[in-house]
Amino acid sequence: MHYYDNVLALIGHTPLVKLNRLTRGLKATVLAKMENLNPGFSVKDRIGVAMIAAAEREGKLKPGGTIVEATSGNTGIGLALAAAVKGYKCIFVMTDKASVEKARYLKALGADVVITPVSAKPGTPDHYVSTAQRIAKETPNSFYPDQYSHPANPEAHYRSTGPEIWEQTEGKITHFVAGIGTGGTISGTGRFLKEKNPNIKIVGADPFGSIFKTYKETGKIIETTPYLVEGIGQEVVPPNVHIQYIDEVINISDGDSFEMSRQLGRVEGIFCGGSSGTNLAAALQVARDLDEDAVVVFIVCDTGEHYLSKHHSDEWLKEKRLLEPQKMTAGLISGTKGDHAPRSLVWVAPADKVSDALAKMNELGLTQLPVLEEGRPVGSLRENRALAKVVRNRHLLESSVSEVMEESFPTVDVDASANEVTHHLQSNPAVLVEEYGRITGIITRHDVLDLKMNTTGPLS
Ligand SMILES: Cc1ncc(COP(=O)(O)O)c(C=O)c1O
Repeated sequence: MHYYDNVLALIGHTPLVKLNRLTRGLKATVLAKMENLNPGFSVKDRIGVAMIAAAEREGKLKPGGTIVEATSGNTGIGLALAAAVKGYKCIFVMTDKASVEKARYLKALGADVVITPVSAKPGTPDHYVSTAQRIAKETPNSFYPDQYSHPANPEAHYRSTGPEIWEQTEGKITHFVAGIGTGGTISGTGRFLKEKNPNIKIVGADPFGSIFKTYKETGKIIETTPYLVEGIGQEVVPPNVHIQYIDEVINISDGDSFEMSRQLGRVEGIFCGGSSGTNLAAALQVARDLDEDAVVVFIVCDTGEHYLSKHHSDEWLKEKRLLEPQKMTAGLISGTKGDHAPRSLVWVAPADKVSDALAKMNELGLTQLPVLEEGRPVGSLRENRALAKVVRNRHLLESSVSEVMEESFPTVDVDASANEVTHHLQSNPAVLVEEYGRITGIITRHDVLDLKMNTTGPLS
């Protein structure tokens, strides 16, 4: 019989996969270390089991104990897997920046999850680390691993990730690229690789707004600014960041991180999270200047499934002003309007009474309405012109919409580009959106104005 003793035996030994299409024109070999293939779908499975094993050895975690940790999610998942197998309880503290998928995943693994505001500063009572420390203190028979300082974190990478990469590349690796959250991955793997060959370059990929680039270059800690990528970057230097093993830190924008994460799925079939996109962007930047002997390995930190409601959602990217302009379709514009617009399409039938139609427009604050019959557009009602007609002839209030309506608004397909929509709006007050023969939405000049104001972000 061939089987594993438990799910923890599946952790590590992740493969390296060569990139082929994203690296066109580059001479260097770029390899993805597929940490998304761990049983908890992230690089953090390695440290979850390692910190628990260390605590058991040291007598800090006893049968029936509770593990309490501050986590952006993945370490929690790694700890929860091991806790499930070994019979411990878990309480995890996350900020409201972490994706809802990760929180639900943790609950599915039997953990309790506490959410704190991401705006809370380090050291204040609401900060996720202070909250976890307080809960650990108040919970009997609890163990607080503290992934930011626990030596088993970098040690796990020194003992597993580093040797795996060294063996898989037969010692040919020249550059290693990883994000810096707790620092465990880059410090442990970096130390191992440097001990094997001090010429291997260790490159940190860090979001703009985080401290590590300036810290590496000047030793100073800058005031941070917010960014959206999860799991990497810091406001303070955690003890597990061993900066002596890091040669260079490259800053990557949220826009580039998310775009590269999406491209890794679309172009290479590797479905990953945002920090993997940060690493990929940095890896490609490094590889650009290298020759054919170079072997660049970057970490695919976790699966894209954790971020289906985040950067893998066009709607979310649009809301965050990060959607590439060419992706802005009629369907997306009409489907993600601001709060000023009704949630579903408002229309009238040709047989409706004019007074009712005008009352509806007044109530909802709309200046135009499509007139639909059996789902097809047959005309339009424009408030100012309809009112002018009614003022001239009050009897029209009692007649049907068909008597005062005008020609229909133009119709575009749900996949039509924002440019096509804008073109129609130059000579029409609104455009109807059609999906598989049904009118599903309306776009007004106001909506496009909103859109223009919302697409001045980094990628436009
Ligand atoms: C998604 C993701 N990527 C990268 C990292 C960074 O890894 P490390 O903490 O080993 O520096 C983390 C850590 O929390 C993470 O959650």
